[in-house]
Amino acid sequence: MTSPLKTIKDKALDALQTAANLNALDAVRVQFLGKSGEVTGLLKQVGSLPPEERKSFGEQVNVLRDELTQQIAAKQKILEQEALNEKLASETIDISLPPAPRAYGTIHPITQTIDDITAIFAAMGFTVATGPDIEDDFHNFTALNFPLEHPARSMHDTFFLEPDAPNEAPKLLRTHTSTVQVRTMNEQKPPIKIIVPGRVYRSDWDATHVPMFHQVEGLIIDEIGKITMGHLRGCLDDFVRAVFNVPNLTTRFRPHYFPFTEPSAELDIAYARRDGKVVIGEKGGFMEILGCGMVHPNVLKACGINPEKYQGFAFGMGVERIAMLKYGLPDLRDMFDSDLRWLKHYGFSLLDQPNRATGN
Ligand code: PHE
Repeated sequence: MTSPLKTIKDKALDALQTAANLNALDAVRVQFLGKSGEVTGLLKQVGSLPPEERKSFGEQVNVLRDELTQQIAAKQKILEQEALNEKLASETIDISLPPAPRAYGTIHPITQTIDDITAIFAAMGFTVATGPDIEDDFHNFTALNFPLEHPARSMHDTFFLEPDAPNEAPKLLRTHTSTVQVRTMNEQKPPIKIIVPGRVYRSDWDATHVPMFHQVEGLIIDEIGKITMGHLRGCLDDFVRAVFNVPNLTTRFRPHYFPFTEPSAELDIAYARRDGKVVIGEKGGFMEILGCGMVHPNVLKACGINPEKYQGFAFGMGVERIAMLKYGLPDLRDMFDSDLRWLKHYGFSLLDQPNRATGN
């Protein structure tokens, strides 16, 4: 290696070694590989060299650039891990401390809404099932009739986890509670009648999306003929009327697509805006409230249930949306800010009962 290259290389490796944090590392990157960086400068000299030197010099500079790029990436990984470890260590909270006497917390609106929803479906004879947040591709996609490479998979911006071993398929954070349809059907014989409240995760962050939110799934499976789309509509109509406490609430079924139901629909509820506020049940427009449909025969098959003998329906709804509409919460992101003033204002007393005023 010619000497200006060697000098720059030694200098860069030295600088890399001493870079103690991500900012310092970025400064090293800019100093050597940036637009006016030292290695970039060498590349610019290539054109002014005598033709017989150009090739070998150019090659050497490229090798140096690639090596530095690699080393910077490796160091970046290490520094990111260190920064994360430091952050985790500094943010530990001792949750074993008992609360000071009389310093009661409140029930979070999400918990209250899940309790409200559960009470309504419990009154209709549903039981509660749960499943893990960390899932595999089979339960989140394949068994639910998402074909491999199907674009529907990318409808959900999935968080994948680092695989435990290099050849292992990566685990993921479930993108919907439909995973528990699969788990339940794999373990139980019909008749099945469950709801599934739980956390779900999608890589999304704006005024109407947060990366972790809650859903309640519903599933009924019984012998063919016993459970129809008519039952689905009736069950959901009863539910939305109860949850919003509007006994004559107008609803609308709109055709939709989900890989795991056929036919599929979205349920809309009537609402109007009065003085800037949403009033549910007033005629004006419709808003979407949940997704549903008849369980696809392929899903039954994947779960070991004979689609010639059994059929049923499923539905899934976002809890945050229902909580916001039901309790007049203005901004989704407030829900997870842990702001004590917000929690005191919107939280519920420990003694509050689930709200199912119009109960069925
Ligand atoms: N899993 C769907 C979603 O997250 C909702 C759904 C559940 C639709 C069950 C139909 C049946 O969007």
